[in-house]
Order: sequence, then C-alpha cells, then structure tokens
Amino acid sequence: MPEPVNPVTFPPSFLWGAATSAYQIEGAVREDGRTPSIWDTFSHTPGKTSGGETGDIAVDHYHRYRDDVALMADLGLTAYRFSISWSRVQPTGRGPAVQVGLDFYRRLVDELLAKGIKPAVTLYHWDLPQELEDAGGWPERDTAHRFAEYAQIVGEALGDRVENWITLNEPWCSAFLGYASGVHAPGRTDPVASLKAAHHLNLAHGLGASALRSVMPARNAVALSLNSSVVRPLSPGNAEDLAAVRKIDDLANGVFHGPILKGAYPETLLTATSSLTDWSFVLDGDLRSINQPLDALGLNYYTPTLVSAADAEPKGPRSDGHGASDHSPWPGADDVAFHQTPGERTEMGWTIDPSGLHELIMRYTEEAPGLPLYITENGAAYDDKPDPDGRVHDPERVAYLHGHLSAVRRAIADGADVRGYYLWSLLDNFEWAYGYEKRFGAVYVDYATLTRTPKSSALWYGRAARTGTLPEVETA
Ligand code: FCB
Repeated sequence: MPEPVNPVTFPPSFLWGAATSAYQIEGAVREDGRTPSIWDTFSHTPGKTSGGETGDIAVDHYHRYRDDVALMADLGLTAYRFSISWSRVQPTGRGPAVQVGLDFYRRLVDELLAKGIKPAVTLYHWDLPQELEDAGGWPERDTAHRFAEYAQIVGEALGDRVENWITLNEPWCSAFLGYASGVHAPGRTDPVASLKAAHHLNLAHGLGASALRSVMPARNAVALSLNSSVVRPLSPGNAEDLAAVRKIDDLANGVFHGPILKGAYPETLLTATSSLTDWSFVLDGDLRSINQPLDALGLNYYTPTLVSAADAEPKGPRSDGHGASDHSPWPGADDVAFHQTPGERTEMGWTIDPSGLHELIMRYTEEAPGLPLYITENGAAYDDKPDPDGRVHDPERVAYLHGHLSAVRRAIADGADVRGYYLWSLLDNFEWAYGYEKRFGAVYVDYATLTRTPKSSALWYGRAARTGTLPEVETA
C-alpha cells in the first residue's frame, strides 16, 4: 500500500519564496547612472497609468533593501526572486557595464545569502532601456543580441553567488501587451510587431541562456518564467469553442513553449496568423538557438482564461487582466470571445481557481517530462487597510494562498516535480497600468511613509515556510 499523502506537508527541500521586480519596487530611477526604461517613459506619459502614477519612488527598495531582506528573514522565507534593472547595469542597453549599478545587486545578494535566503535572479521583467526601444525595441532582431550581451554581464557579476536564473519574465506580456494591445510599455498597437517581438524574445531567451552558461559555473540553473494560460472552452462539447481554445492556447503558450521546449512554432499558430505575417523574420538557425535545454521552468499563475467562438458576442474593448484596450492582445484571433470565469474574484477581477494551477503544473509535467518546475508567481490583490491598531488583517489572501499551495501539493502528490513557490508579491508595489491602486503584497506598504507592516498573510506564509506545512486557515 502506498503511504497516504499528507495534503499540507511539503518536501523538506521545497523553497518558500516571495517575488518582486525592479521597476515595481526599487525607485531611485535617476541614481547611480540609471537611465529611463520603457516603463519610465510610459508611466510618465499622460493617461497610461492609473492616476498618472510612476515607479519614480515605488517602495524605495533601492535604499531599504537591507530592511526588506531582514523582514523576509524574520518571516522565515527561504527564497527571494527579484529582477535586475537593465538600465542600471547598461544605461544605453549596450556597451560596458556600470559597476555601481551591479554593486547594488551584489550587496542585495550578499545580504540574502548572509540571512540564508536563496536568491533567484530574473534578468528581464519588462523594463527595456529606452534607447533600445528607440532603436526598434523587441520587434527589432538586434534587441535579442543586446539582451545576450547584458545576460553575460550579469552572469559574470553574480554567477558565483546566485544559482537560480530566469532569463525572461512572462514574455507574453512584453510582446502582446507592449506591442499589440498597448496597455503596457512601450504602448504600441501593431499586431505584426507583437509577433516579431514574441520571436525576438524567444531568441533573446535562447541567446541569453547560452551567454549565461558561457560565464557561469555549471551548477547554476537557467530557466524562464511563463504566464502560461489555462485556457478553457465556454461549452466543452462545442467544436467551435474548442477551436477558439486551440487558437488562444497557441497565442498564449505555444508561441513560447513550442520553440523553447520543442524547437518549433505550432503549425496551427502559423496558419492562424498567416493573414498577418509569413513569419519570415524567423531566420535559419533561430529555432536551434532558442531550443536550449532548460534546467527548470517557472510558471506564473493567477486565473484561468475562458473562451468561445465569437459569433454571438458583441465586439467591444477586451480586458486581458492587465488593463482594457480597444486593441486586442491576441493577433489573428478576432473570432474568439473572452468570458469571465464564474466564481469569487480578487480585487483585479481575476477569478479564484486553484484547480487551474494544478492543471497547469500537470500539463507541463507531461509536456516537459523531467523538467523541474517552480511556481515563480502566484498571489492576489485585495483592498487591504490597516485596522485602528495598525495591523493588516487579510484573511482572503490567506485563503487564496492556502488554496493554491494545496493545489501545488496535490500536483506533487500526482507526480509533478515542483521545487518551490514564490508568492507575488513580497511588498505592495507599483502594479503597472494600475499604479499603486492594487495591493498584491504580503507586506503592507504605507505609501505616505513607506513603512512596511506584515499582513496576517505574511505571518501565515512565514509559518508555512518555517514548518513546511500549511497552517489551518483562520475563519474571517
Ligand atoms: C504578473 C507580473 C507581475 C505582477 C503580477 C500581478 O503578470 O509578472 O509583475 O504584475 O502579474
């Protein structure tokens, strides 16, 4: 008889992390030689972010990183995923590195290691140096080569002390929100440019992974983080709805995992987009460069996507979860309609569905057998407010985390090799087009004073990290 699995106790080596990204937390945008990224330009463009908010100060992590690391250590976290600001390291996106920019990350990593917290570095979390956008941005092939050069610089600087590496965060958002729907920087709305951007991001990943490996110790692990969608049909028995699922699954997932894991774009994707492009920007040898062996795969999950054939649907502004636009982030999919998944939602309007996380993990367990998986983002925004004695009580977030971590544990019991979980996010922070309106942090930030207060979810998650077992969920 197999041992019955305790549904809430995790393997002892499981990493209990939290995640952030540079532009969302660092601030200090004009210090130590840093130049503007596309997010500085975009957030300073009127009408692009809620209330015109920017990451100029964000949560001032650049100056408060020691306190933030101490906070993580006090909570009991064992891992931290953060991103590097490319324009701190290579202000023009090319040429020699600025050592003072790299020094910030060296100090951050040393501080983490001193406290027993395992760092995971993301090289690119959406903040392209503005000069590279001015030269054409991701639709331009050269950007992939610039990324490889930057990857090599950071790999040389931190490869001796950081083992876990992520080339790109959610290239779907960079390509399709940045260049098709335009709700993210640089705010362009050109479907063909978005497909080129997707290919050059794939190429950047492949060239970047090789560049990292050329300068780092072999023990280091190279991964990337995909926001792979769990796409479901409105009517599972309807062939047209299933065709809509195929199309969105290709545009959300296959466009990245096809070339990266299998060395080819899905034929169905090439056909569905053939009226827009013949994909002649994919040059000989590109697929080989992209299809590098990975040491791990990062999955970011928030909510599933529900689709149907569009016939009966009125066309209107589409929301892709990160903001509404009249331009679709799904090139070639005008015949697909998007629906709200039923059920309770977070403050982002995202339906809470932990079964989607289980499904996603099992899918990649099948698609990439033997590849270790990390949940590199998962979390929820709620309208958190301190109570009169200053405590922030967020039972909804505790329930969200409990539900999703239980789904991860179930997947492990079902044979998936999930090595860790990074809660999004350590701190309340700049939530892109939503500015500071949406609070994803386990730690509350008072934006007037920048004081940090762990919410009850942070304390709950810290207990889970210390014991390797999910504590009971309190009743609200
Ligand atoms: C993900 C992003 C992250 C944050 C969360 C809520 O798509 O990677 O920066 O915005 O969503």
